[in-house]
Amino acid sequence: MAATGLISALLLFLLICSSSISSSEKTRRPQPCKRLVLYFHDIVYNGKNAQNATSAIVASPAWGNKTTLATPIFFGDVVVFDDPITLDNNLRSTPVGRARGFYLYDRKDFFSAWFGFSFAFNSTRLNGTINFAGADDIMKTTRDLSVVGGTGDFFMTRGIATLMTDAFEDDRYFRLRVDVKAIRMLLAKDFVHG
Ligand SMILES: *[C@@H]1O[C@H](CO)[C@@H](O)[C@H](O)[C@H]1NC(C)=O
Ligand SMILES: *[C@@H]1O[C@H](CO)[C@@H](O)[C@H](O)[C@H]1NC(C)=O
Ligand SMILES: *[C@@H]1O[C@H](CO)[C@@H](O)[C@H](O)[C@H]1NC(C)=O
Ligand SMILES: *[C@@H]1O[C@H](CO)[C@@H](O)[C@H](O)[C@H]1NC(C)=O
Repeated sequence: MAATGLISALLLFLLICSSSISSSEKTRRPQPCKRLVLYFHDIVYNGKNAQNATSAIVASPAWGNKTTLATPIFFGDVVVFDDPITLDNNLRSTPVGRARGFYLYDRKDFFSAWFGFSFAFNSTRLNGTINFAGADDIMKTTRDLSVVGGTGDFFMTRGIATLMTDAFEDDRYFRLRVDVKAIRMLLAKDFVHG
């Protein structure tokens, strides 16, 4: 367990700062990191998985209900989530934070969603939030959401996040790969010297 934690912390450090730290910069003021790749995992409540579910349908159209996504194509469902964030695509990896917010299915003729959520981190290495908003054209291989801001280590973060559906199973589990590309992200000093 401790070893896993250590490896996670190390990976996180490398992942987060690989884009911005070079040996020549060591003595200079650290540059803000600009790239962060993470995964989050969403398990929708389906009436049977209360223990493991990380999200729930909180509103559905009059013809639907809150245990099954509406037909056709989920239009009108609103889902609130509190999902684990991991460094790799393994649901069982130690989470480094939580993705919290909601998505709603907003097209009647095509799979499409709208997301508003935050990545929340609360550890000595990463502490703060990154806030996301925007349309998710689900059927596209990649789509961009706006990174609208951040707090703590992510103070003043702005940019885009490229989403990829990394897994999708039975309308019940999905995993998104989130590639945050920011014009300014976090205060790298916390990672260089911490
Ligand atoms: C919850 O997840 C565990 C491990 O993945 C699995 O063994 C268990 O059956 C799941 N429970 C429910 C209620 O889905
Ligand atoms: C919800 O709707 C689905 C699909 O119409 C149906 O199969 C299921 O039995 C409904 N569940 C409840 C609790 O009404
Ligand atoms: C963050 O972590 C600290 C220390 O572990 C804890 O006291 C605090 O309640 C946590 N805050 C949130 C919002 O989870
Ligand atoms: C994160 O920062 C907040 C204040 O910005 C502080 O209250 C909290 O204890 C910090 N959490 C950790 C784990 O250091």
